[in-house]
Amino acid sequence: MRTTAAIPVARRVSGFSYAIRNIVAEARKVEAGGRTVRYLNIGDPITFGFATPPHMIEAVVRAMRDGDNGYQPSVGILPAREAVADELTRRGMPVSADRVLITAGTSEGIELALTALAEAGDEVLVPSPTYPLYTAVLAKIGARAVFYRTDPDNGWLPDIEDVRRQVSSATRALVVIDPNNPTGATYPGELRQALIEIADRHNIPLLADEVYGDLAYDGAVPPMASLYPDAPIISFSSLSKAYLAPGWRTGWMAVGRTDRLDDVLSAIKKLADGRLCSTGPMEHAIVAALNGDRSHEAGFRAALRARAELTAARLNAIDGITTVKPAAAFYAMPRVALPPGVTDEQYVLALLRETGVLCVYGSGFGTRPEEGFFRVVFLASLQELTEIYDLVAGFTGDFLARPLP
Ligand SMILES: Cc1ncc(COP(=O)(O)O)c(C=O)c1O
Repeated sequence: MRTTAAIPVARRVSGFSYAIRNIVAEARKVEAGGRTVRYLNIGDPITFGFATPPHMIEAVVRAMRDGDNGYQPSVGILPAREAVADELTRRGMPVSADRVLITAGTSEGIELALTALAEAGDEVLVPSPTYPLYTAVLAKIGARAVFYRTDPDNGWLPDIEDVRRQVSSATRALVVIDPNNPTGATYPGELRQALIEIADRHNIPLLADEVYGDLAYDGAVPPMASLYPDAPIISFSSLSKAYLAPGWRTGWMAVGRTDRLDDVLSAIKKLADGRLCSTGPMEHAIVAALNGDRSHEAGFRAALRARAELTAARLNAIDGITTVKPAAAFYAMPRVALPPGVTDEQYVLALLRETGVLCVYGSGFGTRPEEGFFRVVFLASLQELTEIYDLVAGFTGDFLARPLP
């Protein structure tokens, strides 16, 4: 007898949410209705005309032509691991190549580390707002994200007392995203030091998401582990952002030199064996990127600074909107003063439907819906951003004047 019953899916999927992508389904409907959509939801510089440095492309093409198309060692090719180890050591995090793994983006490194560290039911301290990969992976593992506050009234810096309060016997890791997505904040040295001290004292690994480390407008931010190389810190980064190759899915993680992390390193390597290797030929671009010409970086940072300034000035000039000026990367997290009963998602969806401007609602990053946060990706040209902020200004004035629902 045939049955037509739907095949059930695992419960863990219901906790796996990725607003940055999910909202695109809504945008497609708006496009189908004939309106142009301006996609300010994904932080991909390539979409906005920034180009991968040619010597990195050359390195990948050469590797493919040279026949480097087989499986690679699961930890990554030695020259790439050495390039990462040298780079981090130069920047103050002394680490050897055998503590570096090449991963499919920062994302895979984070997933490997969290899988190696947290059991179902364990807790991981995550900033609020957060990059949603953390909560999504924790939902998959069955571990619990425990949010610590970052404060929009204090430049989106972490509330260190809140971090201290949230540590418990079930805490397995402390996630720090600096420079930060979604807020664009960079953290001062004393604050980084205080976060490291918490991790060190409680013997909890600090997962340092440093994917925007090179994109602070005043110059590259040193790795967190440079402040205290013997603390239990794992650093993550990739070619996706500062090196303009997000589609290559190529990144790395470096496990701090303390022997307290030796078992964790072995566990991560074991898990990495299971996925055979990361993206083969692209690993050669890591060597080109870290040891080669970096002249694109200054221009990219200057372009981002100009966009950040325009974004902060234009958004802060809109009645009902306030935003912290970003210090790095290409994100801002403005707040709109919503009337009671209205959610950030309702505001963002109405903005999309009525103007075609697509942002992501703050609750997709963990803020409360009624707080009215939304995230803007400001990679578009100054001209286009000016047009977009005109649309946001016109829409917001009108939206906030509407009668209460
Ligand atoms: C804070 C943060 N971490 C990790 C990632 C994932 O980057 P990757 O492309 O290296 O996997 C992103 C991407 O936007 C990010 O913003």
